[in-house]
Amino acid sequence: MKDKYWLMGPVYDALSYVFAGNSILECKRAMLTPENLKPGDKVLFAGIGHGKEAIYAAEQGADVTVVDLSEAMLDKFKQGLEKTNKDLKINIIHSDIMKIEAFGEYDMVVANFFLNVFDEPFMAEVLKHLIKLGKEDAAIVIGDFAMPEGNIFARLAKRVYWYLAIGIFWVTTGAALHPVYDYRRHMSNQGLDVVDKKYSKVLGINAYTAFLGKKTASS
Ligand SMILES: C[S@@+](CC[C@H](N)C(=O)[O-])C[C@H]1O[C@@H](n2cnc3c(N)ncnc32)[C@H](O)[C@@H]1O
Repeated sequence: MKDKYWLMGPVYDALSYVFAGNSILECKRAMLTPENLKPGDKVLFAGIGHGKEAIYAAEQGADVTVVDLSEAMLDKFKQGLEKTNKDLKINIIHSDIMKIEAFGEYDMVVANFFLNVFDEPFMAEVLKHLIKLGKEDAAIVIGDFAMPEGNIFARLAKRVYWYLAIGIFWVTTGAALHPVYDYRRHMSNQGLDVVDKKYSKVLGINAYTAFLGKKTASS
């Protein structure tokens, strides 16, 4: 199968820096705090891309697995890992996340800017799959574009910002074209208890949100 990220793969992180400075990385690391992440925790990153946050989690002592369907993206991940010059043991899997069946294995499952590549019904399926990969009391983390909130100008600015981003990915990678997803609602619908939410700002506006949901008996 052709790598949909062959064009974006080499430049993805540079582009996100141009788009948002450090705010995207801040969002991706927002929930990787000592309260949520203990040395030895098993953490799975779905659709990892260049994956600086996964390297960070491994540096904190987590037992990290990363999965991505794109070889171009994983090449950049491996280059980043090499640059650390540290002996970090990260399990790198080149696969469709839906083919990963290590159910009930992970303390934390992270989906940063990943679920937005799918149309909404399939996104909900992928989220369900990610939840199944977590242990009974796992944390499920989603970092992504914030819902358009605030006054009419703020909402308009956020929509323009979002459609500019998803438009680029729609053209270059075939990502689904859709409004910003309400991840909190999707997480709650799937039985997660959403216990934390953190914003990252661009030019003073809440541009990105990280949610942390805990698995419950009904998820
Ligand atoms: C928009 S990028 C986000 C990358 C990274 N998580 C980040 O925040 O920078 C989406 C990533 O998901 C990967 N991807 C898309 N569909 C996938 C699938 N079915 N299984 C695993 N990875 C997938 C792509 O190859 C790409 O690396």
